[in-house]
Amino acid sequence: MKRIFGFIAIIFLLGIFACSSSSDDDDGMMPDNDQALIEAQNYFNNTLRPVIVDKCVSCHEGKHNKNDRFNFSVFTNARNSATSMFNQVDAGTMPKDGDKLPQSEIDMFEEFRDLVNKIN
Ligand code: HEC
Repeated sequence: MKRIFGFIAIIFLLGIFACSSSSDDDDGMMPDNDQALIEAQNYFNNTLRPVIVDKCVSCHEGKHNKNDRFNFSVFTNARNSATSMFNQVDAGTMPKDGDKLPQSEIDMFEEFRDLVNKIN
């Protein structure tokens, strides 16, 4: 009887090693793409989005629904327009008819554009 328990214990341990080594493999194979996407999303949510909500959505969200491609408070739309957003705020053409953004905020749009470019 004892030997059976020993045997089961060994099978069990082998199972644990098999699982942990295969999950290591998964980590190793995780495409850089996913990391870059997560980084861009985190940067967007924590840093850039509050600026967009404050300075852009009064015009760009309006009565449009969330799928509107110029509603930049939605990650997908901001991602698709990352370069164009940076160019506009850097040139001072956006916010339209408003003061040019402070350099610290323009830098955030630039950082976001760079993070987005790393995804592809
Ligand atoms: C006062 C209203 C207003 C504000 C505030 C505003 N926008 Fe705009 N934006 C517009 C309008 C209107 C257009 C359409 C093009 C035009 O009339 O210049 C536009 C166009 C754009 C475009 C170009 C779309 C394209 O590809 O043609 C981008 C990018 C953009 N805005 C980014 C921003 C960002 C980023 C902010 C915030 C920092 C912002 N806008 C704030 C009104 C505004």
